[in-house]
Amino acid sequence: MTKISVLGYAGRLGSEIAIQGADPLICDITKIDELNEAIYRAKPDIIINCAALTDVDNIESKEGYYKALEVNCWGIEKLLQAFDGRIIHISTDYVFDGKRGPYGETYARYSPINWYGYTKTGGEALFLTGATKGSTLIRTTGLYGNRIGLPDFVSTIMERLGKGEEVLVTNELRHNQSYIPHIAEAILKLCELSNPPKVLNLGSREILSRYSFALLVATVFRYDINLVKPCINLSVPGWKAPRPAKAGLKVDLAEKYHLPIYNIIDGLNDLKERMR
Ligand SMILES: NC(=O)c1ccc[n+]([C@@H]2O[C@H](COP(=O)([O-])OP(=O)(O)OC[C@H]3O[C@@H](n4cnc5c(N)ncnc54)[C@H](OP(=O)(O)O)[C@@H]3O)[C@@H](O)[C@H]2O)c1
Repeated sequence: MTKISVLGYAGRLGSEIAIQGADPLICDITKIDELNEAIYRAKPDIIINCAALTDVDNIESKEGYYKALEVNCWGIEKLLQAFDGRIIHISTDYVFDGKRGPYGETYARYSPINWYGYTKTGGEALFLTGATKGSTLIRTTGLYGNRIGLPDFVSTIMERLGKGEEVLVTNELRHNQSYIPHIAEAILKLCELSNPPKVLNLGSREILSRYSFALLVATVFRYDINLVKPCINLSVPGWKAPRPAKAGLKVDLAEKYHLPIYNIIDGLNDLKERMR
């Protein structure tokens, strides 16, 4: 049986991959000795790398950027040094500027517009040049619905709507809002393929603006949709980093490989079911 280990097992996506069956790989991706030791003990056939620093606004500071570079970029080099087997590395549509999305796998003009995107671009470049045959770079986008209680876009707006508070949601960003259990399911199915693609997009089937998605969330969970107000990026409290506007990912290739791809509403309905 294929032994699958997941790095970043305590994060939003990594925890779900562990819940769905992968073994946590407990080590710091920036420390080669820890990686060597953990891999030696676990003896995985496949490593799924979800380890990352993902706080986009914090990474706009010099300190945040240098820390993120260590994990998101140089961490990939260390992982490649420590493990010459099959790796599935998770990345993002934030490696693009959001002028021409949704992006297909063959679009190859890196154009990040924030420092998080730069660190992820560096990680991708190292991965694509150094990874063993059979490894896959997965780009995903707009993750929500983790089962370990970490805040995400949906949980945050539901908390506010539940208290009867207004939420300002940008209508300047478009992407596929993607339900974490569905993405984890597709990643684990990819592990079963004997001839996987080198680059693969995973996300929900449709692209929506964040504002439209927030209206959908309010509708599905029966909150007052009048509390959801459209705004521009500059009005979103706490946002320092620019975000790619017309981003998102085409997911046709995943469908060609018969990987499970769902509609946005399927994710929200599943989340509702789980919360009952
Ligand atoms: N969230 C999204 O909307 C989104 C969208 C597109 C792509 N992605 C990509 O998807 C992947 C997973 O994202 P996520 O949302 O699950 O992120 P997350 O919730 O922030 O989880 C990342 C995990 O990586 C761990 N980590 C940080 N530094 C590490 C290190 N030096 N060594 C080992 N582990 C380390 C974190 O541990 P600590 O908690 O201890 O720091 C955390 O458990 C990332 O590659 C991200 O770029 C995410």
